[in-house]
Amino acid sequence: MDNIIKEILVTEEQIQSKVKELGERITEDYQGKDLMLVGILKGAVMFLSDLARNIKLPVMIDFMAVSSYGSSSESTGIVRIIKDLESSIDGKDILIVEDIIDTGLTLSYLTDNLRKRRAKSVRIVTLLDKPERRKVEVPVDYTGFVIPDEFVIGYGIDYAEQYRNLPFVAALKEDVYMKKNKV
Ligand code: IMP
Ligand code: MG
Repeated sequence: MDNIIKEILVTEEQIQSKVKELGERITEDYQGKDLMLVGILKGAVMFLSDLARNIKLPVMIDFMAVSSYGSSSESTGIVRIIKDLESSIDGKDILIVEDIIDTGLTLSYLTDNLRKRRAKSVRIVTLLDKPERRKVEVPVDYTGFVIPDEFVIGYGIDYAEQYRNLPFVAALKEDVYMKKNKV
C-alpha cells in the first residue's frame, strides 16, 4: 500500500469519533421526525453503516446509485440514476449520505430530484468536503472533514474500484493516476 499512498489525511480513529459526533447531532435534530437515510452507492456504504449505528432513532435506509455523464456533464450537472429508491419519499425527512463533495454537481442534482418527489425535507451529510473544487453551491448540513484538493481513497472511496476497504482516508500518489490517464 505504501507505494500508492501519498499521505493519510484522516485516520481511522478520527473517522470513528467524527461519525459518533455526527450521529449524536443527527439524533438530536431528528427527534420526532420521519428520518430516511439515502446512501449514495457505492462510496457512502462504509460511512452510512457506521453513521446509522450512531443514530439512536428509528430510521429507514435506502440507496441510490448515480453516474455523471462523463467530463462533458461537468458543466451541465446532468446525472444519470443507475439505481433508484425502492419506495416513495413523500412526506419523509430525507438525509442524503455522501462520501465526498467535489464539484457539488451530483448533490445539487440529487437534492433537486428528491425535493420534487415531495419529501418533507432534504438535507445532506457528507464525510468529506473538497470546497476548493466547488462549481455549484450546495447547502451541506453536516460535514465530517474539510480536505485539500487531493484525490483520495479509502473508507468507501475508490480509485478504479479499489481501496474502498481501507479503514482510513488517504491521498493517492499523483503518479498512480497520472500513469492511468496516459493510457
Ligand atoms: P461531484 O461533487 O459531483 O463532483 O462528485 C462527487 C463524487 O465524485 C463523489 O461522490 C465521488 O464518487 C467522486 N469523487 C470526488 N472526489 C473524489 C476523490 O478524491 N476520490 C474518489 N472519488 C472522488
Ligand atoms: Mg459518491
